[in-house]
Amino acid sequence: MALFIDSSDPKEVQDLFAWGAISGVTTNPLIIAKEAPDADLGERIREILKVSWGDVSVELTTETEAQMMAESEQYHAWDPKRICIKVPFSEIGMRVLHKLVKRGVKTNVTCLMAMNQAYLAALAGATYVSIFSGRVRDLGYSPAPIIEATRKVIDREGLASKIIVGSIRHMHDVNEALEAGAHVPTVTPPILRKMLWHPRTEETIREFNTAWANRGKAKGP
Ligand code: E4P
Repeated sequence: MALFIDSSDPKEVQDLFAWGAISGVTTNPLIIAKEAPDADLGERIREILKVSWGDVSVELTTETEAQMMAESEQYHAWDPKRICIKVPFSEIGMRVLHKLVKRGVKTNVTCLMAMNQAYLAALAGATYVSIFSGRVRDLGYSPAPIIEATRKVIDREGLASKIIVGSIRHMHDVNEALEAGAHVPTVTPPILRKMLWHPRTEETIREFNTAWANRGKAKGP
């Protein structure tokens, strides 16, 4: 089990890696367009690489096989050991995936909404298969059975792919993904921070610290 951060903000990545609990980063074109519309992609990803460790997923934005392979080569060169090429799932995506796997490039097949899709990507040797919790729920059904079925088939057949669960909208989605068998929920900074918080924890710490500060003080009559 692991937790990744779903962000392209180097400051957030640095702050949250300081907890010691996060071990990878996922980005996508929508996240980067929202967080840093004017940024140079290469510079931003290199900054993230500097302040983190583990795999950093960068998604392809082009749509032909040749363009996607050229884009992959460019991203892979930024750090061949840590860059994971995020391949949008499609027939062309499967062909690109196969070529990248043969070259030993790390891959993250993304935008998956169903077990059959994740199974195809896992059979082709994807390093990660990314199931989109929130977007599945938007369709009106629960992502948990999809995650469970994918984990079952990956384990049964001894496939090496790890299941990332992204599109996390609530703290509960993280718990649900872990219980359903996700190897790696990828979580946005606001939701990661919510995972710290519990009112009873705060109250208990306050009670302990107040008792310590007041120790030895005379009790009233
Ligand atoms: C992560 O790998 C995904 O790209 C991301 O979590 C998708 O989130 P969204 O459904 O909120 O766009």
